[in-house]
Amino acid sequence: MAFIIKSKLDNILKDDALGIGKVASSDPMGINATVGSFQPFEVFDFVKEIEGGLSTKDKYAYSSVDGGEKFRQATNSYLGLSDHYVISTPGGTGAITTSVGLTLEKGETLLIPYPCWGPYFGIAKENGLNVATYTLLKDDKFNLDGFIEVGNKIISEEGKLVFILNDPCHNPTGYSLRQEELEDLVGYLNKQKVPCTMILDCAYLDISNEARHKDRSFLKLHLEDNVEILYCVSYSKSYQIYGQRLGALVMKDEFFYKVACFHARTTWSNCNHAMITLIEKVELDLETKAKHKKALEKIQNALSERSKLFLSEAKSCNLKTLKYDNGFFISIPCKNNKEVFEKLKDEHIYVLPVCDLVRVAICGLTLEQVKGLAKKIKEYIIE
Ligand SMILES: Cc1ncc(COP(=O)(O)O)c(C=O)c1O
Repeated sequence: MAFIIKSKLDNILKDDALGIGKVASSDPMGINATVGSFQPFEVFDFVKEIEGGLSTKDKYAYSSVDGGEKFRQATNSYLGLSDHYVISTPGGTGAITTSVGLTLEKGETLLIPYPCWGPYFGIAKENGLNVATYTLLKDDKFNLDGFIEVGNKIISEEGKLVFILNDPCHNPTGYSLRQEELEDLVGYLNKQKVPCTMILDCAYLDISNEARHKDRSFLKLHLEDNVEILYCVSYSKSYQIYGQRLGALVMKDEFFYKVACFHARTTWSNCNHAMITLIEKVELDLETKAKHKKALEKIQNALSERSKLFLSEAKSCNLKTLKYDNGFFISIPCKNNKEVFEKLKDEHIYVLPVCDLVRVAICGLTLEQVKGLAKKIKEYIIE
């Protein structure tokens, strides 16, 4: 312990979703609604085909620090952009950590929604930052007033604003901002006289079944010069390649790109060459890209069926849920979420207690497992 610097002594990984998921999956009778990966777990056929044909060099040689020009084009194509700089990252997590670390000095404040994906708190802590939160939803809508209230305070104290927006299919609620809500948010940022950075965590972009997400038109936003979007891409979910660890950080500013390259080289150096080649081969080929879209529809449809069943049963038994549009998770407000977790665990049902909620990962369940689950959870909930 004495070998570790004082400021890191408190950084112990606990109550982590991956850890709880491991316990859940080692229970042979377990219903695992904890981890954010789609089940039944299958590698897409076109992914297998491409992987099988990769050369030794594609698989085992170093990649370049940023992933290379073709990867830049491929990731631009993935986001429906054309002229952005790109850096390959270890998953979406790598892109988010890099964005946060390069935009905030120690002691400055990162604004995140509540509830949110748990690692945001850890990323802030690892970088010596303060965290400010706003309640994501108010009356089942994006809480822009709440965002502005906290945003104004940070701007007046620190002369800048850096925040994470997790959209679409926000984890853990499954909420996606309406286009007007996104535009109103950008409208607020455009009016500020200080630099505003939106770290757009779009990890679940391909999980949404809305047309404006599928064709990426939701990203056509008018930004003034004081506003920068850092797009944090996770190929984990889009391509079902979670364990292969590939994502991308995408930005408009060349200087930012150069600094991010330095960060990458001195942190993880470069990323998974085989997966970089995979993304290039899909995103730059219209036919394979169409196959990918088709494969994703299966996941979107399955989620839609599972969520419909869970939500209708929740309604029948008066189990309150937060507003859900699409995505891997449904959230239930709950004061005693740790107790609910323990009680359900005794019945071999594993959910995740996060942010005064119980998060149910419908992505991990069969329809059969979803059936009756809302009622079971309701038995133990204190709202
Ligand atoms: C909201 C959110 N952001 C980012 C990520 C990062 O994903 P990965 O690093 O596996 O690409 C996840 C994964 O669970 C997530 O839920």
